[in-house]
Amino acid sequence: MQNFTSRMQAVQSPLIPIIGELIRTNPGTISLGQGVVYYGPPPDAIARLPEFLADPENHKYKPVQGIPPLLSAIEAKLKADNGIELNGQNCIVVTAGSNMGFMNAVLAITSPGDEIIIQTPYYFNHEMAIAIASCRPVLVATDENYQLRPDAIAQAITERTRVIVTISPNNPTGAVYPEAALREVNDICRDRGIYHISDEAYEYFTYNGVKHISPGAFPQSSERTISLYSLSKAYGFASWRIGYMVIPEHLLVPVKKIQDTILICPPVISQYAALGALQVGIGYCQEKICAIASVRQLALDSLKRLEDLCSIAPTDGAFYFLLKVHTKLGAFELAQRLIREHRVAVMPGTTFGMEDGCYLRVAYGALQKETVAEGIERLVRGLQAIVDSNH
Ligand SMILES: Cc1ncc(COP(=O)(O)O)c(C=O)c1O
Repeated sequence: MQNFTSRMQAVQSPLIPIIGELIRTNPGTISLGQGVVYYGPPPDAIARLPEFLADPENHKYKPVQGIPPLLSAIEAKLKADNGIELNGQNCIVVTAGSNMGFMNAVLAITSPGDEIIIQTPYYFNHEMAIAIASCRPVLVATDENYQLRPDAIAQAITERTRVIVTISPNNPTGAVYPEAALREVNDICRDRGIYHISDEAYEYFTYNGVKHISPGAFPQSSERTISLYSLSKAYGFASWRIGYMVIPEHLLVPVKKIQDTILICPPVISQYAALGALQVGIGYCQEKICAIASVRQLALDSLKRLEDLCSIAPTDGAFYFLLKVHTKLGAFELAQRLIREHRVAVMPGTTFGMEDGCYLRVAYGALQKETVAEGIERLVRGLQAIVDSNH
């Protein structure tokens, strides 16, 4: 068979399955690797399933954009939780998770060779989606606390730039961007005639009284802001594949073309479940996030013992810490040794575009307090043993 090359050769392979395989071959490993929550959907979501099954019509294709009752529930949620109102210039599209929302957005607003500004550390699936669309990711480094640098973003814009991407609260750093910085990004986008894609998958996951801000709520932002949301984290919905996007009205036709071709419609059974989840609303997530907050504090207290070996920027969101380890070891090698020698898994920072220096992402959303305590203890002892012996 002839060897064809394809655009996919330029796309990085995610490390998560490789780390997953290492975890499987080293039984007893505690995973601080995957970005998932410890809980599943609310019972009210599951209670919707008989209703789905009772109507034989539900086995047929449904609207590309999402079923009307879910669109209405999302509209109410956006108004109440995000301050975003439908105003004739914007609209909602239900997607099969917010990764799909990102892909839809990139395909809808770019041509091959266009540039997309993402911040480092980046979310690897964003970088991959940009490469899949044959566009060029332009990397702009965040500051020492992983906050946005609007001046550097503005300087990175060229004739080919179509969009600036932000993620707040952030994966992999946990940084939550303040209103002023997000307004600056929106202003830059308006002045330069480009879009702002705002990924808000972790919208409810903030700590220490810090507030999540939706740039789609700023006045006159509907024309240029694409806001992405997900039920995966907030409602323990990762495998149900439901997210949604708020897009400028003029993008509805291209986004529907893409979604119709790739998905036809988001899974209808999952949309029924999503309706149940949204009707329970933010209270469900807040209760769970209180538990995650105490796990976070426990992890932070233990990580203090590593002060000499690594720095942890103070961030207030998502369920991640990004450790900068003071070592010459490569992040992937260190992550492999932590699994093999100390039975604890974290993600190497190279996955998130951190090539310069050794970074590790610690995820604490998936575990109960006792397991996290043990996992962090192994991480602390492991780093002390490995990094100290390499000094
Ligand atoms: C920033 C960010 N966006 C999107 C996603 C994917 O969300 P979904 O499951 O809705 O596709 C993740 C998952 O980890 C994420 O971290």
